[in-house]
Amino acid sequence: MTPSQSRGRSKLCEVRDSRIHGRGVYAKTAIRDTTRIIEYIGEKITKEESERRGNLQMERSQATGEAGVYIFTLDEKWDLDGGFEGNIARLINHSCDPNCEAYNERGRIWIWSIRNIEAGEELLFNYGFDLENYRDHPCRCGSPRCPGYIAGEEYWPELRRLLGLPPEDAP
Ligand SMILES: C[S@@+](CC[C@H](N)C(=O)[O-])C[C@H]1O[C@@H](n2cnc3c(N)ncnc32)[C@H](O)[C@@H]1O
Ligand SMILES: [Zn+2]
Repeated sequence: MTPSQSRGRSKLCEVRDSRIHGRGVYAKTAIRDTTRIIEYIGEKITKEESERRGNLQMERSQATGEAGVYIFTLDEKWDLDGGFEGNIARLINHSCDPNCEAYNERGRIWIWSIRNIEAGEELLFNYGFDLENYRDHPCRCGSPRCPGYIAGEEYWPELRRLLGLPPEDAP
């Protein structure tokens, strides 16, 4: 199925250039905590196909300098390839101090606010990456707690250890 144009859009947000990376998605109006903002739509693909497309997208993005990997993990069996124009949520950048979170609701991915967001703020969620290839994903979110690489918060203690940083709760 080709996802329809309107499904991947939302009147609450718009695309603009980001100071973190490339393009990002910004709140058009104030958004209250716990608001369902936009759906991350994509083509449902197997992990095998996802690996193949991910590698191709990575090669292309390395050659052109554009960020071109738009694969979202759906569950243990399936991923979503959201790499097309109509999927605005594919442009949401990562932050280590995010204002949004992505939730899987019966096989569909929705981006929710996790605090009140002001009009004009960039929408950001934690990509939740594990530490495989973490060196390929330096983080420029600028938050005080940022460990320097894009990773899920549960991996931060190990990441800080690998980077020779003191534990976060060290005096
Ligand atoms: C799904 S895209 C997000 C949209 C991207 N800004 C664009 O213009 O296409 C993911 C890519 O954006 C970049 N990115 C997202 N968040 C980032 C961050 N906090 N620090 C550095 N790069 C980031 C990385 O290159 C990542 O592979
Ligand atoms: Zn960060």
